[in-house]
Amino acid sequence: MVQAQENGIASLYSDLVRRTPPGPRTPAPRPQDCISLAGGLPDPKSLPAREIAAATARALERHGEWALQYGASQGYAGLIEQLRIKLARDNGLDVGPDNVLITAGASQAMDLVCRALINPGDTVLSEEPTWQGAVRVFRAYQANVVGIPLDTEGVRLDILAERLAALKAQGVQPKLIYLIPTFQNPTGFTMPLHRRRQLLDLAKQYHVAVVEDDAYFDLRYAGERIPMLSALDDAGLTIYTGTFSKIMAAGMRIGWLIGPASLIAHLTQIKHDSSNMFLGHVVAEYMASGAFESHLTELVGIYRQRHEAMLDALATEMPEGVEWTVSNGGSFTWVTLPEGCDATTILAEARAHGVDFVPGTICYYDGRGQRNLRLCSSFADEEAIRRGIAILGGIIREYVPHR
Ligand SMILES: Cc1ncc(COP(=O)(O)O)c(C=O)c1O
Repeated sequence: MVQAQENGIASLYSDLVRRTPPGPRTPAPRPQDCISLAGGLPDPKSLPAREIAAATARALERHGEWALQYGASQGYAGLIEQLRIKLARDNGLDVGPDNVLITAGASQAMDLVCRALINPGDTVLSEEPTWQGAVRVFRAYQANVVGIPLDTEGVRLDILAERLAALKAQGVQPKLIYLIPTFQNPTGFTMPLHRRRQLLDLAKQYHVAVVEDDAYFDLRYAGERIPMLSALDDAGLTIYTGTFSKIMAAGMRIGWLIGPASLIAHLTQIKHDSSNMFLGHVVAEYMASGAFESHLTELVGIYRQRHEAMLDALATEMPEGVEWTVSNGGSFTWVTLPEGCDATTILAEARAHGVDFVPGTICYYDGRGQRNLRLCSSFADEEAIRRGIAILGGIIREYVPHR
C-alpha cells in the first residue's frame, strides 16, 4: 500500500489500538538460525504430524459433512466429551458438558474471562512475575492489576490476604485472582495442596473469582500430581483454562475454559465463532484413538531430559551470584542475576552470539524483572541447550564482575 492508504484509517482507531503499540510479526524461530531458549514452543520434531494426518482422514471420512460445517459456539460436542474424559482421568476434575467451552487456545479463554468479568478500571490480583499473555490481556481490558509476589510455593498468601483486606477497607471489590498454580510461567513453581486450600478459603471470604491457568499440568517430570484448584473449589468461584498447545500442537491453537454453566451460557453468546469445528473433530479423533496418551508419555520423557540438561548446564556454566529456580515440570527456568545487572544488555550480546531468551521485564506489569532471564527448555534439543547455556554463561561471567 502507498503511504496515503496506510494512514487512511489511522485517525479512526479505537482506544484499544491507540493504547497498543504495533509490534513486529514474529515467525517461529528456526533451530538452524539460533538457539532459542525464548518462547515456550513445543519440540518441533515430536509434533505428531503423522497421527494428526490419520485423525484428519478419519474425521473427514466419518463426519465430513459436519466437520466442514458451521457449528455451536460452545465447540464440537465430540471434543467436549473427549476433554471431559481426559480431565476426569488425569486431572481429577469431573465436569458436565455444560461447564466446558472450547476456545482458540488458552489465550482466547483469557480474553473471554476478561470480557466476562472486567470493566475498565476493575481490580484484578495477579501473581507476579507471570505469563506475558496475562500482562497483555489485563492491560488491553484496562484492569487495575495488583501484583502479588511468589515464593517457591507459589503466590504469597500473607501478602494476598493483606492486599484483599486493604482493598476491602477502600471499598474496592476485586474481580479475580489470576494464577498458574502448577509449573508456573516463568518460575516453574508449584503451589502445594495446603496453600491451594488456603487460597480458596481467601477467595471465598472476599468473594473473588479465581482464574486457574493450567497450561503445563501434564508436563510433570517428578513428584506427585496435586489436585487442581478447580477440583477443590466447593463455592463455584474458579474458572479453569487449559490448552493443547503445549501437549499436542500449538499450530492448532485449541484450548478450553471450564466454569459454571451459567457463565459458559453467557460466553457462547459473546463468542460467535464455533472454535474451529474442523479441528475440533480432528482433535477428538486423535484423542479417541489413544495416540494422544502415548504422545504425552513420549513428550514428558523428552522434556524431562531437556529440563535436566538445562539445570546441569546452569550449574556448570553460571558464575557465583547467579541464581535460578528448580521445578518439577513445565518448560521454564527463571534466572536471577546479581544486584545491578541488566538482562537486556545480556540479551543483546546473547542474540549477537546466536542465543535467545525472554527478558524478565515482560513478565511484570510494571517493568520490573530487569535482573531476570526466562529460559525455556522445550524447544531446543539437549545439545543445543548445553551449547546455549555455555554461551550465555560466558557472556554473564564477563559481564557480572564489571557491575
Ligand atoms: C501460562 C500460559 N497460559 C496460556 C498460554 C497460551 O496458550 P495458547 O497457546 O493455548 O493460547 C501460555 C503459552 O505460553 C502459557 O504459558
